[in-house]
Amino acid sequence: MRGELPVDELNVCVIGTGMISDFHLQSYKRNNRAKLYGVYDLSLDRASEKAARYGVQKVFRSLDEVFADPEVDAVSICTWNHTHAELGVKALEHGKHVLMEKPLAMSYPDALQIADAASDPDIVFQVGFVRRFAAGTRVLKTFIEDGLLGKIYYAKGTQLRRIGNPGGWFADRSRSGGGPLIDLGVHLLDVCWYLMGKPEVARIKGVTFNELGNRGNVEALSFYKAADYSADRNDVEDLAAAMITFKNGATLMLDVSFSLHAKKDETGIRLFGKKGGAELEPELVLMTEQNNTILNIHPQIDHLSIDFDEAFGAEIDHFVSCCLDGGKTEAPLVDGIEVMKMLDGIYESSKTGKEVVYDQAEQ
Ligand SMILES: NC(=O)c1ccc[n+]([C@@H]2O[C@H](COP(=O)([O-])OP(=O)(O)OC[C@H]3O[C@@H](n4cnc5c(N)ncnc54)[C@H](O)[C@@H]3O)[C@@H](O)[C@H]2O)c1
Repeated sequence: MRGELPVDELNVCVIGTGMISDFHLQSYKRNNRAKLYGVYDLSLDRASEKAARYGVQKVFRSLDEVFADPEVDAVSICTWNHTHAELGVKALEHGKHVLMEKPLAMSYPDALQIADAASDPDIVFQVGFVRRFAAGTRVLKTFIEDGLLGKIYYAKGTQLRRIGNPGGWFADRSRSGGGPLIDLGVHLLDVCWYLMGKPEVARIKGVTFNELGNRGNVEALSFYKAADYSADRNDVEDLAAAMITFKNGATLMLDVSFSLHAKKDETGIRLFGKKGGAELEPELVLMTEQNNTILNIHPQIDHLSIDFDEAFGAEIDHFVSCCLDGGKTEAPLVDGIEVMKMLDGIYESSKTGKEVVYDQAEQ
């Protein structure tokens, strides 16, 4: 709604025009029901450069200006993690639809502040769980819903980077909330939990290490870097691992790193059920058994492993359609909050050395 009128084109403002904003800007540009109405960044130069590149109508000079503009229907929030909760709350208070980059917030209590501000059911709040929208995930989910895997009792998410600390704010805990766990682990935890049917968490044991630092000395390997890259500061973990047990008894193992003496970078997302299994990464494949024979099933789809262009396009098309057509988002705020609770649990367990117990597990 713009004022009280339903709209058939969504005016979007992208807040934060650093590295990830390109995926948002290009996806909105390709969507013929969205209009790139505005951009805003603390760096006016960066916002102006992106506005020129993507043909955005307005470069805002302040956040207040963005939120006060009645022509802005929706915002994509692509800023540093420590700003997410405050910006999310403000956007909701001004009646804007929100696509919030992951992680939802810096912490579970911060995430709950957003929940308090989300009182209008007609306002869409979508969390940037881009892996939910990737072609492979969408296909796998249909097979899981058809029962091919049966009850999923074990899952494993891995994203190990040998050198991959994006530096700048990512490595500054006061702005990021943590290292590879909150940055990469959030995606793996989410997509496994989502495909497992979003079971309720019962217990978490987590560990984090800061043994190698950011390996800023390593040469001749390129990696994702924050727009304001600097390797000078680093107070985040470089490896995190966790075991999450759910009330239905299912268990999820997770390990993620920014720096590690590993042979190569790797991403693995694996789910194991009573009737079958699946690998989503490195490449979609389904496993089952029939006539006393093990079958590995290879779906024939364009993107067997995640293609970020495709996945962000699907994520943003879905967001635009929910805003304009009033649908329920596939990545709602409540899920962002639950994932934030589990991330906090891993950090908490790592700090105390003890398991975090949420409730008596019902086996
Ligand atoms: N979905 C994904 O796969 C994915 C990948 C990378 C990053 N991200 C998320 O996207 C967000 C941004 O990451 P990035 O890699 O683009 O970082 P970045 O540092 O490259 O860009 C962030 C931009 O936000 C701006 N900014 C910070 N605070 C602001 C504020 N209060 N108002 C306006 N602008 C502000 C900065 O000036 C910068 O230009 C993070 O939350 C990150 O976790 C998601």
